Amino acid sequence: MMEWERHDLLDLEELSKEEIELILTTAKSFKEVSTREVKKVPALRGKTVVMLFFEPSTRTRISFELAAKRLSADTLNISSQGSSLVKGESILDTAKNIEAMNVDMIVVRHTSAGVPKVLADALGPSVINAGDGCRAHPTQALLDIFTMKERLGRIEGLNVGIVGDILHSRVARSNIWGLTKLGAKVTLCGPSTLMPIGIEQLGVRVTYDLNDVLKNCDVVMVLRLQKERQQEKFLPSIREYAKMFGINQEKLQTASKDILIMHPGPTNRGVELSAEVADGPHSVILEQVTNGVAIRMAVLYLLLGTKKDGAEE
Ligand code: CP
Repeated sequence: MMEWERHDLLDLEELSKEEIELILTTAKSFKEVSTREVKKVPALRGKTVVMLFFEPSTRTRISFELAAKRLSADTLNISSQGSSLVKGESILDTAKNIEAMNVDMIVVRHTSAGVPKVLADALGPSVINAGDGCRAHPTQALLDIFTMKERLGRIEGLNVGIVGDILHSRVARSNIWGLTKLGAKVTLCGPSTLMPIGIEQLGVRVTYDLNDVLKNCDVVMVLRLQKERQQEKFLPSIREYAKMFGINQEKLQTASKDILIMHPGPTNRGVELSAEVADGPHSVILEQVTNGVAIRMAVLYLLLGTKKDGAEE
């Protein structure tokens, strides 16, 4: 198996197929740790992981923290509120001060695209992008791909539909990079106003017909309608959006009986999907969350390079 050599994880665009597969394989070996009575291995003992979250998060922040703790790393949480950022200190100065305290890893989420790259270029500790603006959310895509592979046994040749607000979605972008590298066929669907012009250049198909996606896909990933990123009027109304692109039990009638419904969370129930679909037999939404811990354990472990104290401990 290949050796991991990267210092940072900024997006899946820069990763090779083999690097993505190494993360998935490593995550598989770590998944079992979270089912143990004592959910801990010593792989990152003595390491310090700092969570720098400048945008709200439930799943990603908690998942990274649990992953670091289950690998025995020390963790710190910093958000803009309550830090000297509110006094006008820049993000880079904040990060450099954190670096000066000899930390090993910075996990960063920010509303602006490119902030993780700026920190990675300027700092010594490894940097993981936990979501930057509309650009990338690599660990979300990795946990999505892990969940598909675990459920369906393969990625190559799978038909994966991504439905909703593609324009503002870092989850869609990272999934497109990851899934196409692993040989899946990706179809994007959503209102034309929320479909980036020229997105087909990334090797995906575009449709504006939800039924086309439901009839032809093995997996449908439903995206959150990102009300906070829609400064302009992209939609006539939320109600209209739900009618055209929301997934409910009735629309699922045309889908394969084995279709997987995924959602990165947080969900707007009754908008992009109904409560009965979110909680129904096709939904793997909470499995995605479970798998997120294993993926983040794998990423932390690979980046911090402590290959001696392996996952099998
Ligand atoms: N999927 C995701 O990134 O969720 P959070 O915003 O809660 O971290």
